[in-house]
Amino acid sequence: MNETFLQACRGEHTAYTPVWFMRQAGRYLPEYQQVRSKVSFLELCKTPELAAKVTLQPVDIFGFDAAILFSDILIPMEAMRLDLEFHEGKGPIFSRPVRSQRAVDDLVVPVPEESLPFVLETIHLLRGCLRVPLIGFAGAPFTLATYLIEGGSSKVFLHTKKMMYQEPELYHNLLTKITACTSAYLQAQARAGAQALQLFDSWGGILAPCDYEAFALPYVRSIIAELRAMTDVPIIYFINNGATLTALTTTAGADVLGFDWRLPIVEAVACSGRHAVQGNIDPLALFLPKERLEERIRTMLLDARDARGYIFNLGHGILPETPPGQVRIAVDAVHRFSGKP
Ligand code: CP3
Repeated sequence: MNETFLQACRGEHTAYTPVWFMRQAGRYLPEYQQVRSKVSFLELCKTPELAAKVTLQPVDIFGFDAAILFSDILIPMEAMRLDLEFHEGKGPIFSRPVRSQRAVDDLVVPVPEESLPFVLETIHLLRGCLRVPLIGFAGAPFTLATYLIEGGSSKVFLHTKKMMYQEPELYHNLLTKITACTSAYLQAQARAGAQALQLFDSWGGILAPCDYEAFALPYVRSIIAELRAMTDVPIIYFINNGATLTALTTTAGADVLGFDWRLPIVEAVACSGRHAVQGNIDPLALFLPKERLEERIRTMLLDARDARGYIFNLGHGILPETPPGQVRIAVDAVHRFSGKP
């Protein structure tokens, strides 16, 4: 087992800089498209052999230093008894948005072993063949809540913020249920063999710091505290667009903080204290010409050298339009410049 990624998570010395990319398994890869052409996205997530297969693809092709379980943050929301659909080009849709106490009461907090066995089975399959660590994940409660309340993706988050401001008790009841689900789900992933866990807070950055502190952070803290009580797997907290929230995110209790590209990595390192740091090249920088991409990576590695543990990653998920050859250039550059033998 190549433990470089886990060593970096724990803030230990590493022989070179480990690298993985958020959304590294997916549509930019012809090998993924080939599997996906035969099954829907949800079927793919729910078929352990296929989910394991596409998890391995980017690791085998590019030599990433960690694998991330192939699934989606919304899969456990379906297990709460919500109708989840993925529409081509439109993203996820919940046909019955959760906007009333009645709708919250109808949500079930699932027992992962009963309602999400395919995820745990995928983890078992992967641990049987991976030679790099496996990252499990979940959405952070606020990010998940936006999808449930809006009924899908959103730009202004009108319904979410209206509920926060006008019906705080309803909002809290919903978030409490999502938090219970997420907590149990991550614990089950750790028991099944996930070696690190990442919380994706893709939309936390749309909140004013005071609202983030009141309406998002407490639920993240509670999940991490409960995980801490049962496992010592490293916990990564990634928040997108979170530059103004870093002082707050350092209080979440995570081992590793993940940063998007809007904050210079040198500043991310400076404000991360005892945390390891993950990030944060703009996913679109993968479209730079080879020499400029390599130069940018070299600079980023230098700027991150004082981190208490550093994991190279994108600042957000890779885009489907990304040429795989550019991913190879980036992964090779991280390894070469950081002295991988
Ligand atoms: O990182 C990985 O390789 C593991 C797999 C993974 C997926 N989604 C697969 C996926 C992970 C970790 C996610 C997380 C996820 N899902 C997030 C958090 C990270 C982020 O990007 O902010 C969010 C917000 C979602 C919700 C989601 N899933 C959306 C909005 C969409 C549609 C938009 C899009 O990118 O297509 C998805 C679908 C999805 N999730 C796909 C994949 C590979 C595309 C499905 C397809 O093959 O058609």
